[in-house]
Amino acid sequence: MRSRGKNLSDGNLPFFAAGISAVIHPSNPLVPTIHFNYRYFEVEDGKETQWWFGGGTDLTPYYLNSADAVHFHRTLKDACDKHDNSYYPRFKKWCDDYFNIPHRGERRGVGGIFFDDLDSPNQTACFEFVKDCANAVIPSYIPLVQRHKFTKYTEVEREWQLLRRGRYVEFNLIYDRGTKFGLYTPGARYESILMSLPLYARWEYMHTPEENTPEYELVQVLRKPKDWLKLINEKDNDS
Ligand SMILES: *[C@@H]1O[C@H](CO)[C@@H](O)[C@H](O)[C@H]1NC(C)=O
Ligand SMILES: *[C@@H]1O[C@H](CO)[C@@H](O)[C@H](O)[C@H]1NC(C)=O
Repeated sequence: MRSRGKNLSDGNLPFFAAGISAVIHPSNPLVPTIHFNYRYFEVEDGKETQWWFGGGTDLTPYYLNSADAVHFHRTLKDACDKHDNSYYPRFKKWCDDYFNIPHRGERRGVGGIFFDDLDSPNQTACFEFVKDCANAVIPSYIPLVQRHKFTKYTEVEREWQLLRRGRYVEFNLIYDRGTKFGLYTPGARYESILMSLPLYARWEYMHTPEENTPEYELVQVLRKPKDWLKLINEKDNDS
């Protein structure tokens, strides 16, 4: 935490941490995976208590559906805008930067919001913001499940989903700070930490989707994150 700019003294400091996390890996490849986590930390250093909030919500589709991505981002933006107009653009970028798989040159998914070390303007305002973010999870995601859950899918689509879930595993085990923090904590509940992994995933040597396929299209967006809400404005201007 010192490396992230926290001014904490040496030695063992009493701390308090609370959080909620969930990941849903649906069986139908046309329904995206969602992950969210919201958390609060407190560290007692002498007479002073330092506290901060962090968290985020992000979406990992296997087949890109722009309307889904726009709905998802719009819902999160509305929650952010109730508190501070600068939050969504900052936290959207932070999300794209955080859920990055450098060795693949890909993002984990189409992003969402992510933030850490939030401690202003004050504790109450931050808590209200984080509660609104958490309350936006269901409205951001359930409509996508309802749209696609009964759509028939093929064996090829299922295979692609499993390959993409392999990427999800790569991110979580190699880069995710929450996973690393958990696994390095003495007495950690490994089973709970590894709950974020999908039940099934696969790897295939040098697998590359063919050009002009939906699989290829998804990878293009993962290589270069989109500004989903600007997309809406462009469409509005066109019509
Ligand atoms: C860090 O905290 C200590 C003790 O509260 C204080 O003396 C010091 O000036 C602080 N350093 C910075 C860089 O804020
Ligand atoms: C906390 O910040 C909010 C938003 O800026 C403000 O309305 C509220 O009065 C502040 N509360 C306290 C206790 O300072």
